Amino acid sequence: MFSRILPHKNVTELSHLGKQFSTSNQRNVKVAVCGASGGIGQPLSLLLKQSPLVTKLSLFDIVHTPGVAADLSHIDTNSSVHGHVGPDQLKESLTGAEVIIIPAGVPRKPGMTRDDLFNTNASIVRDLAKAAAEVAPTALIGIISNPVNSTVPIASEVLKKAGVYDPKRIFGVTTLDIVRANRFVAELKGLDPATVNIPVIGGHSGVTIIPLISQAKPAVDFPADQLKALTERIQEAGTEVVKAKAGAGSATLSMAYAGARFAISLCRALKGEANVVECAYVRSDLTDAKYFSTPVLLGPGGVEKNLGYGKLSAFEEGLLKAAIPELKKNIQKGEDFVNKN
Ligand SMILES: NC(=O)c1ccc[n+]([C@@H]2O[C@H](COP(=O)([O-])OP(=O)(O)OC[C@H]3O[C@@H](n4cnc5c(N)ncnc54)[C@H](O)[C@@H]3O)[C@@H](O)[C@H]2O)c1
Repeated sequence: MFSRILPHKNVTELSHLGKQFSTSNQRNVKVAVCGASGGIGQPLSLLLKQSPLVTKLSLFDIVHTPGVAADLSHIDTNSSVHGHVGPDQLKESLTGAEVIIIPAGVPRKPGMTRDDLFNTNASIVRDLAKAAAEVAPTALIGIISNPVNSTVPIASEVLKKAGVYDPKRIFGVTTLDIVRANRFVAELKGLDPATVNIPVIGGHSGVTIIPLISQAKPAVDFPADQLKALTERIQEAGTEVVKAKAGAGSATLSMAYAGARFAISLCRALKGEANVVECAYVRSDLTDAKYFSTPVLLGPGGVEKNLGYGKLSAFEEGLLKAAIPELKKNIQKGEDFVNKN
């Protein structure tokens, strides 16, 4: 079952879960957010502050975290909030973290691809992963920083070099692609988006984003031209926001929503809840690309089972074929970055 964090539904749902688990399992889930002062980081931290599953929220950034933490700490939910600022406080911020979510780095401006962010964000993710390897080697790590297709291999290589790599614990957060697909399909079919689930596989940029409309729940049908246009809209939805923001960044609020949904799913899995499933970009041997997003069953140790991508339509087979060379290139670029630096 795919999870959601709709406030009207899930705050109640999660409160219930929080109470249920607080009697049987008293330990904290400490969640750290790296890049917590940013456009994504702040609303993401706000959403995490609302979840009773998060009992300790550690906010790291190179700027402004004392203020963000002070502000959030006044919210009357149970979790404690701790701000850490600057490289000297990075390790302290990650110590003991069970879930680390990384939205640190620069976002796109109009005309840029996600790959154009590589030069800046590659070293940011590398350094954060190095610190995580040292002080939180068993944390579940969700990477939001783009280009996700490359930053996940970067973090993985860093953890490998540190001798603490566990492929089950590292995720590229592609949840926004699923959220968008659900919303766009619901809009076209006059459905309640909360009832729609579309798996999105592959990677997180342009042609590597592969929505599986043929596996939509509930089942939906589109004429070929509409299916093509819908698929392209999902693939380019990030650019839609970048253009509309006209230089002020990329998706932040919808990404915070999606990031919180993913982080809360990790917390639910950590707490032992069964049937927590999310699509995520993970180490995979399903295709020629070493990392590939599919629905995965989450457990306390991360990926419990890769659920694969099932049967594709002929149209989706074509999308997969187009995605693999690009994905392989992005993955190689990430691995080369760590191995040459
Ligand atoms: N995965 C996705 O679906 C998705 C969607 C949207 C955006 N993104 C990506 O998320 C990233 C963040 O986007 P944003 O809009 O929040 O950007 P932003 O510029 O508003 O915020 C980024 C934050 O990262 C901080 N930062 C920079 N270097 C850091 C470091 N070394 N350690 C810790 N923090 C550091 C900055 O100070 C800033 O507060 C971008 O790379 C963007 O492309 C991913």
